[in-house]
Amino acid sequence: MCAIGRRGQLGLDGQLPWEGRPEPIFIADPARFFDLTRGHVLIAGPATRASFPAFAWDHREIVEIRSHEDPAAVLARFPGRVVYVCGGPAVWRAYAPFIEYWDITRLPYDGEADRWFDPAWLVAGPPARS
Ligand SMILES: NC(=O)c1ccc[n+]([C@@H]2O[C@H](COP(=O)([O-])OP(=O)(O)OC[C@H]3O[C@@H](n4cnc5c(N)ncnc54)[C@H](OP(=O)(O)O)[C@@H]3O)[C@@H](O)[C@H]2O)c1
Repeated sequence: MCAIGRRGQLGLDGQLPWEGRPEPIFIADPARFFDLTRGHVLIAGPATRASFPAFAWDHREIVEIRSHEDPAAVLARFPGRVVYVCGGPAVWRAYAPFIEYWDITRLPYDGEADRWFDPAWLVAGPPARS
């Protein structure tokens, strides 16, 4: 699950690019994220994990994922569970081939970013077999 700006903006300075914006739509989106992930597993890259507020740990299992781990092996650790993927581009490049459902919110943000969504992830082929 992710939220992007009008041109695919994903992150800025380790935060959401629209962090702190007071308009209701920018407040409703993270609220929806925490509602939908409640009770489930959330796998996240280290920077994304570090950006979660303290309350995020209360009602979901947050698992840090690292680049030395095999994505298939990571996902196999959670049989029968709903696993949400969360992270920057390197995480999406590795995990996109495994995604069954994409949940992408497009927010009315037109500003800067240093992390971008790549639409090619949506049609990433099957994971390479080892
Ligand atoms: N808009 C959204 O929905 C959304 C969602 C999440 C994050 N973000 C934003 O994105 C930014 C954070 O992203 P980030 O790219 O800086 O860092 P990140 O979330 O830590 O994700 C990238 C890191 O994940 C690790 N990783 C784990 N498994 C991997 C794998 N199989 N292959 C490659 N790398 C893997 C790598 O770190 P190691 O090599 O150290 O293991 C990699 O550098 C923040 O600005 C955050 O707010 C936005």
